[in-house]
Amino acid sequence: MKLQDSVIAITGGGQGLGRAMGEYLASKGAKIALIDLMPEKLDDAVAACEAAGSEARSYVCNVAKEEDVERTFSAIVNDFGHLNGLVNNAGILRDGLMVKVKDGNVERRMELSQWQAVIDVNLTGVFLCGREAATQMIKNGDQGAIINIASISRAGNMGQSNYSAAKAGVSALVPVWAKELARYGIRCAGIAPGFIETEMTASMKPEALEKMAAGIPLKRMGKPEEIASAAAFIFENDYVSGRMIEVDGALRL
Ligand SMILES: NC(=O)c1ccc[n+]([C@@H]2O[C@H](COP(=O)([O-])OP(=O)(O)OC[C@H]3O[C@@H](n4cnc5c(N)ncnc54)[C@H](O)[C@@H]3O)[C@@H](O)[C@H]2O)c1
Repeated sequence: MKLQDSVIAITGGGQGLGRAMGEYLASKGAKIALIDLMPEKLDDAVAACEAAGSEARSYVCNVAKEEDVERTFSAIVNDFGHLNGLVNNAGILRDGLMVKVKDGNVERRMELSQWQAVIDVNLTGVFLCGREAATQMIKNGDQGAIINIASISRAGNMGQSNYSAAKAGVSALVPVWAKELARYGIRCAGIAPGFIETEMTASMKPEALEKMAAGIPLKRMGKPEEIASAAAFIFENDYVSGRMIEVDGALRL
């Protein structure tokens, strides 16, 4: 698929990887629909995409809310006339051990609310946005691709029952959608990033970050542009579908 003049929606586009992907794809001529909860961040991200050389619009939407997602994707097609791609990127962390024991006593447990919040955004949000994007693309006769952003945690990371389960789920949706949507000219692939320098990882304790970076064979965290270029590769290569691309500096959980 040619990125020039294609229309790509990106969830969680207000900051971090979503914003970086918006700027990168805009620099290749794609028109960008940025979706996020945070209006001020969206304004900055739209300006950054425009500065990168293309058209961009923002949509305030909670990806975990069905009505929000339906309204947003129909607005995108209304505004741009087409939809050729989606990057399912919005995600949150609510880390914690399932059962935390100190001195032989159960001190804390992962709350159901902690579990549910992550499943709602990182898994249900991906399903809802994927479903709406596919619906609009099929109705409109638009071809393209859907990219699910997973994580190396999909293999199972300590302290991340909720996040690992959601990321394994969105990875599993990749071959499902690739098989279901191929007949409509829609591909689906995923990216499993390692540790990348964004606001999300900046919120981790510095000691934890240092320890983790030391364990990466390439000895550094990834840069958001390195994930963005993987997304551009997926959009541009019409034979990539049904697979995950790991971009993690050789760090494998
Ligand atoms: N940064 C990393 O090291 C890393 C590694 C692996 C995977 N990932 C994944 O990449 C994606 C982006 O991560 P990031 O580091 O850029 O995170 P981030 O926290 O910097 O940005 C996430 C964005 O998603 C938005 N968002 C959160 N909940 C939302 C909701 N319900 N509806 C709409 N928007 C919502 C936030 O407002 C924010 O702008 C996530 O799915 C994350 O799990 C990140």
